Amino acid sequence: MPPRPILIAPSILAADFARLGEEIRAIDAAGCDWVHIDVMDGHFVPNITFGPAVVAAIRPHTNKMLDVHLMIAPADPFLEAFATAGADGITVHAEAGPHLDRTLQAIRALGKRAGVAINPGTSETAIEHVLDRVDLVLVMTVNPGFGGQAYIPAMGEKIARVKRMIGARKIDIQVDGGVTRETAAVVAAAGANVLVAGAAVFKAKDYAVTIAAIRTAAVAGQGA
Ligand code: DX5
Ligand code: ZN
Repeated sequence: MPPRPILIAPSILAADFARLGEEIRAIDAAGCDWVHIDVMDGHFVPNITFGPAVVAAIRPHTNKMLDVHLMIAPADPFLEAFATAGADGITVHAEAGPHLDRTLQAIRALGKRAGVAINPGTSETAIEHVLDRVDLVLVMTVNPGFGGQAYIPAMGEKIARVKRMIGARKIDIQVDGGVTRETAAVVAAAGANVLVAGAAVFKAKDYAVTIAAIRTAAVAGQGA
């Protein structure tokens, strides 16, 4: 089976919020594949970001896939609002609620791509029984809550285990946290194909050059 295409998803958590529309248009023009939107509730994670209204405000600025990463608990009461706001994919954490299977069914019933995320301390076995319900598995490579943290090296082995577990299913493996052009090769070699990058993109001078460099490093890692 050929590897799934490498996709780069800048996380707007590191964008200039006062110029959000402009920032979205800039990463779109710079060649990003998806736009990653980190939703935090100050309860599931120790930080607060934004809700459906911000997703709706972003929507007119790009036709690219809006990849909404919900770090909220509970998630179920908000799924419809994010779908209506214009999310294309919605990812929930396996740790966020007791009825993961139901939540993933609800996302697909809204016509959206369903994703499931696991924190660094969570075993991949937590998602082994929901793989037929998802389009994406997100392996967190930092503890969620903040941008700009360092990649946790032990996650390479977990990415490889997730890849083995997925087998022939058509599921993207996404990584989120501490992705740079250096770690991009490592995560892609382990089996990740969707790379979220916050600080690495938005703190760079040239978004296009940076996105291209992360992509090149990941493609090289995938072939390694
Ligand atoms: C962490 C978020 C990430 C974060 C990644 O809770 O889910 O998407 O923005 O940021 P960087 O790439 O700066 O580590
Ligand atoms: Zn994220």
